[in-house]
Amino acid sequence: MITVRAPATSANLGSGFDVFGAALSRPADVVTVEKADRTTIEVTGVGAQYIPEDPEKNTVGAVVEALDAPAHIHIDKGVRPASGLGSSAASAAGAAVALNRLYDRGLSRTELVPIAAEGEVVVSGVAHADNVAPSILGGFTITSTHGTRAVSADVPLVACLPDVAVSTRDARRVVPDTAPMEALVETVGNAATLTVGMCRSDPDLVGAGMDDPVVTPERARLITGYDDVREAAFAAGATGVTVSGAGPAVIAACRDGDRRRVAAAMLDGFADAGIDARAYQTRIG
Ligand code: HSE
Repeated sequence: MITVRAPATSANLGSGFDVFGAALSRPADVVTVEKADRTTIEVTGVGAQYIPEDPEKNTVGAVVEALDAPAHIHIDKGVRPASGLGSSAASAAGAAVALNRLYDRGLSRTELVPIAAEGEVVVSGVAHADNVAPSILGGFTITSTHGTRAVSADVPLVACLPDVAVSTRDARRVVPDTAPMEALVETVGNAATLTVGMCRSDPDLVGAGMDDPVVTPERARLITGYDDVREAAFAAGATGVTVSGAGPAVIAACRDGDRRRVAAAMLDGFADAGIDARAYQTRIG
């Protein structure tokens, strides 16, 4: 029997749509696997009632297939589904790492990234790897046609999760098909700034690089209270604020010492919009 902890993640970080991802020190899923003739899945924990246990419909089913590794799989959810914090990815990433070990498949962590990404097809229709990569590799990750690169970074973050669900599939429908050159130039500049910030673990540069004029404004419309939460977070000292993944979680970067204040401000922002939320004071880990 093998048990692994698979962290929540925040994808995109504004300027890196489908490219950037960061592993969060909390929350996390815990995945336990045991060899079996036939795959069975049991899900407990946060939002377990919304997650199918049928291997054809669960995100880890595709991972089992790809690794030819039938098992009894127990997923203890710490990452709420439809949160924008890489819930499906955490389960798929945990299963990929655990099954690789259980069956001695000998694949490297980087080789497990595209395998775990197959699980994302079940949820969103697209094998985007920007959540599974940081969940498997840790730190800040860049996934592109050149593969996945991971950088260790240490930046304080607040992930504020409102008590509403947004499906990744729906949130991908609002992504524009095209973008003006001006917006692309701005996005590349921001993405480069954020990358330098991650390499230096500099929350000011990371925050400055989170702005995105293309995808985030469309996604923000799906999140009641987003503008108020963003404004409140900046007023409390956040260095950058954006939609986490497909939402509805909102992620803020800040300096050490400001995290509690930023978390409280974001919760107040959602409360003003009449929405309950919970804030994770976390960091890239
Ligand atoms: N890059 C993906 C998206 C992440 O924004 O749709 C989903 O968590």
